[in-house]
Amino acid sequence: MIYFGNQAPFQQHGEAMVLSRRRLLGAAVCGLALPAVLPGLARAEAPARLAAGAASATALGAAVQRALHQIIDLPPVFADPLAVAMLGAGSARTLQAAADRPSRGLRAYIAMRSRHAEDQLAAAVQRGLRQYVLLGAGLDSFACRNPHPGLRVFEVDHPATQQWKRQRLAEAGITAPDRLTFVPVDFEKQRLDRQLELHGFRFDEPAFFSMLGVVIYISEEALDQTLRVVAGCAPGSGVTFSYTLPAHRLDAAARAARERSMAAVARLGEPWITFLEPETLPPRLRAAGFNRIELLDGAEGNRRYFDGRADGLRLSSSAQMATAWI
Ligand SMILES: C[S@@+](CC[C@H](N)C(=O)[O-])C[C@H]1O[C@@H](n2cnc3c(N)ncnc32)[C@H](O)[C@@H]1O
Repeated sequence: MIYFGNQAPFQQHGEAMVLSRRRLLGAAVCGLALPAVLPGLARAEAPARLAAGAASATALGAAVQRALHQIIDLPPVFADPLAVAMLGAGSARTLQAAADRPSRGLRAYIAMRSRHAEDQLAAAVQRGLRQYVLLGAGLDSFACRNPHPGLRVFEVDHPATQQWKRQRLAEAGITAPDRLTFVPVDFEKQRLDRQLELHGFRFDEPAFFSMLGVVIYISEEALDQTLRVVAGCAPGSGVTFSYTLPAHRLDAAARAARERSMAAVARLGEPWITFLEPETLPPRLRAAGFNRIELLDGAEGNRRYFDGRADGLRLSSSAQMATAWI
């Protein structure tokens, strides 16, 4: 049994990878409108939900997992003092509904990918880098707790999600810092480089980019274009991103869970469309213009971030990240 502040207790069970219907009801409780799900998605369109002008429900799902991680997994692998506040009014009910669902492996993955990105960012800042771009930022709170003096932050997201986030911040009384610039971009329709330039990003200075939980929702064309934009930045720039293995790389149990998850996110209007294999990434990243590439799988992620935990929190074998530098 877990207690959140002075709210009613909630419970946590085993493991799953889906944004559940109940969690979405929780999302509706905390202010996210849930429009009818639109069927049919052309590959060169933003997810149907976003194209219809609704904010990303999976962005809320990830934010809920980050908030739960602060409360349930002690000590947190990824400490985010603003994670609960980002959920806004009704966060206790949202968290309670989410904690009723099994989500341990997903929570571990979402925590690890943020930790991995921010660790690499911190090392890059030490080397003198002064620009950080969050691609598909969702409700990521980094910009509002940025510990690096002089680091400019650019949050890129689909306009529908970004508008919702800005309302969220205002409602939560969190002031967007001066060093944060919002850059609305639909990766399927707009030129990321142009939008960044229009918003004051310096292509002649190195930058670090993160793209957490995004690749699976965008087309391969949009992914390659995005990678080329990063590779076109000043030397010393880099990108880290999470990605998802295709079903044939999973065992039978994981494949069955994948099918359930895919059906659930498709019903939300945010279908998973892009799956990557680790072996294909180094040539693909080199072709885009990167020269130093690091892949991190579940086993390595566990060694780095979860070893020795008393609570047994672990990544599953489906956790995958890649980082590339120029
Ligand atoms: C699962 S959420 C991840 C959010 C955040 N990175 C996190 O880890 O909490 C996916 C994000 O990708 C964004 N996204 C999906 N398709 C997009 C597109 N075509 N253009 C821009 N952003 C997109 C959504 O708006 C959402 O913020």
